[in-house]
Amino acid sequence: MRAAFFAGNQQFQLGPCVPIEPGPGQVQIRVEYCGICGTDLHLFHGAMAHRLTLPHVMGHEMSGTIAAVGAGTHGWQPGDRVTVRPLDPCGACPACRMGHSHICHNLKFIGIDRPGALQRLWTVPAQTLHRLPEGLGLREAAMVEPIAVACHDVRLSEAAPGEFAAVIGGGPIGILIALVAQTRGARVLLAEVNEFRVRLARELGIEAVNPRETDLVALVNERTGGAGADVVFEVSGSQAGAEMMTRLPRTRGRIVVVAIFGEPPKVDLFRFFWRELKLAGARVYEAVDFEQSIGLAAGGNLPLDRLITTVLPLDRIQEGMRQMERGGDCMKILVDCTD
Ligand SMILES: NC(=O)c1ccc[n+]([C@@H]2O[C@H](COP(=O)([O-])OP(=O)(O)OC[C@H]3O[C@@H](n4cnc5c(N)ncnc54)[C@H](O)[C@@H]3O)[C@@H](O)[C@H]2O)c1
Ligand SMILES: [Zn+2]
Ligand SMILES: [Zn+2]
Repeated sequence: MRAAFFAGNQQFQLGPCVPIEPGPGQVQIRVEYCGICGTDLHLFHGAMAHRLTLPHVMGHEMSGTIAAVGAGTHGWQPGDRVTVRPLDPCGACPACRMGHSHICHNLKFIGIDRPGALQRLWTVPAQTLHRLPEGLGLREAAMVEPIAVACHDVRLSEAAPGEFAAVIGGGPIGILIALVAQTRGARVLLAEVNEFRVRLARELGIEAVNPRETDLVALVNERTGGAGADVVFEVSGSQAGAEMMTRLPRTRGRIVVVAIFGEPPKVDLFRFFWRELKLAGARVYEAVDFEQSIGLAAGGNLPLDRLITTVLPLDRIQEGMRQMERGGDCMKILVDCTD
């Protein structure tokens, strides 16, 4: 049984997994698949180093089965198929008391502040578990976490059937936002600069363009009778995206910022005044988003087999990071954590 230990300095070392007996209120999971996320790539590049205890086990987009349950853990049994909502809130801060524990002031993100899922046996609080239906394969179930991000973003956007949504950035999260918005009956236009990702989005039935080749403002106006988009999602994390996001919405249109910007971007506040725009941030997910995500994944409504472009064994995690770094011909890379 193995684990991938991040040693800092863009290096992973494979070593024996150190199983932790589940204590009261905890469960131990036999991890099957774990996705590599943009956040993991940021950690690999040295970001958020102050939050890691090296050697660190990353990973928070996973599926598996329960191996053992701790004392006082009701409702869960060995063999249950599960995924984890990787949030450990304090329960006592003002955000938690207001019912927003997903953005707890003292939030511990499991996989960053706590050891993650890139190991065969992983112990987590039972309150993080979501049950997987029989019909959902464990490979596809590793996509539940990023789908839940998209469900949260689309829910907060209040996108209604028939509304026009522009999505800037067509990585795994942007493309999932486009797909989830479509399931809600929204019309969607996706802007993405990576040609492989533009092609893939088109093959999945999303209207997608490269904003370096197409006049995005003109196209959105054409699609909306000159009005502009009802809602714009910024999912690229780029300065160009931050500039574009205020140029696309209609009067009183909404902008949802999903991307995590490494540097504070320059944003045109004049447009907020001019068109009475509304800006919302969206961070991770709540339990309801995980349940919606599981329903969508299990219902076969999302082309998950097309979004999972690569599956690597645990000992090739380093290669997975390099592949993500290069961009190019990949969407979601999964790591197979079985022995
Ligand atoms: N809000 C949250 O809780 C949350 C959760 C997960 C991820 N994120 C963030 O969301 C963002 C997207 O995540 P991802 O995993 O899809 O990352 P990603 O890096 O794979 O996707 C970003 C995409 O934007 C594209 N892009 C870059 N510049 C562009 C431009 N000017 N116009 C259009 N597209 C452009 C890139 O080619 C890439 O495909 C990241 O910033 C990530 O950190 C936020
Ligand atoms: Zn992630
Ligand atoms: Zn809290």
